[in-house]
Amino acid sequence: MNLATKYLGLDLANPIVPSSSPLTRNVESLLALEAAGAAAVVMPSLFEEQIEHEAMAVHAALDYGSEISAESIGGYFPEMDDYNTGAGDYLDHLRAAKEALSIPVIASLNGDSAGGWTLYARIIEDAGADALELNIYLIAADTERPGPQVADEYLRLVERVRAAVTIPLAVKVGPYFTSMAHMAGRLIESGADGLVLFNRFYQPDIDLETLTVGPNLVLSTSEEMRLVLRWMAILHDRVDASLAATTGVHTSEDVLKLILAGADVTMMASALLKHGTGHVSTVLEGVEQWLERGNYESLDQARGSLSQRSSPDPSAFERSNYMHALTEYSSKY
Ligand SMILES: Cc1cc2nc3c(=O)[nH]c(=O)nc-3n(C[C@H](O)[C@H](O)[C@H](O)COP(=O)(O)O)c2cc1C
Repeated sequence: MNLATKYLGLDLANPIVPSSSPLTRNVESLLALEAAGAAAVVMPSLFEEQIEHEAMAVHAALDYGSEISAESIGGYFPEMDDYNTGAGDYLDHLRAAKEALSIPVIASLNGDSAGGWTLYARIIEDAGADALELNIYLIAADTERPGPQVADEYLRLVERVRAAVTIPLAVKVGPYFTSMAHMAGRLIESGADGLVLFNRFYQPDIDLETLTVGPNLVLSTSEEMRLVLRWMAILHDRVDASLAATTGVHTSEDVLKLILAGADVTMMASALLKHGTGHVSTVLEGVEQWLERGNYESLDQARGSLSQRSSPDPSAFERSNYMHALTEYSSKY
């Protein structure tokens, strides 16, 4: 069965891509993912906060003592560019991953403001990444900042990173836009070659014993995939960009549904953390068997055949689906 797909212009053997997680953090598990059939990998993110924190620490070190003696004017240290600022570890890992793997390695930058940290995109490109994923993880909590201003911030950030690199750029966003479909088009106009749908925002929780608020990371379940499924189906064939699905992709059924809706690739983190790297091959087998049973010749043939544009019932992805679901629901009580 031909499972080949194209994502961000990269030719991939199949649509399974482990997304950023601790499993893509070291070369050993990356090799295990590749051996199990992963078609590409997304590295964990280099975070805006990490870059800025380290840059400040280096500036403090550069300034320290610089006014004390003639020799020291201009600082005791060479320019920051020459320093391993901690992002250096990230670049080392990227280079090691590129060296060890034959599948494409997608690096990841994660932030929420269009600041100087975005210049690290260029450094990541120079270190050999095949593509870059920009994760815009923005919680719009400022009561003074209206929606259009928040949207502009997203677009400025994409433009900045786009200007810094020539490698393909994917943008990972959450689903909470007033007009998701319109925003998708604007992200692409601003330079995204692909969209990664959707960021899974970790919800804080309150511990009633300690009265503290914690991040309480809970892994996803397949049910969460259905939000992605809707938007995949709506956006397929409507936007000129690659589409990746992330959040709630656990089984071969999840992968197949997203492909039918129009995904170019499906990404996994929670499922691999729960079941191990070998889960990739189990999922691939299931995908292949289903396609064979349906007499498909390739994955491409199935892609998008149940997108909103191709679906016999396009309204099922919108409001009528909701009305139907509510009126049809029956309870045993
Ligand atoms: C422990 C853990 C670490 C993660 N680290 C990152 C990260 O560094 N950057 C990023 O963009 N996403 C990160 N993610 C998010 C995943 O890549 C993924 O988008 C999200 O978990 C939803 O997919 P899933 O349902 O397959 O888990 C992380 C997820 C987990 C569970």
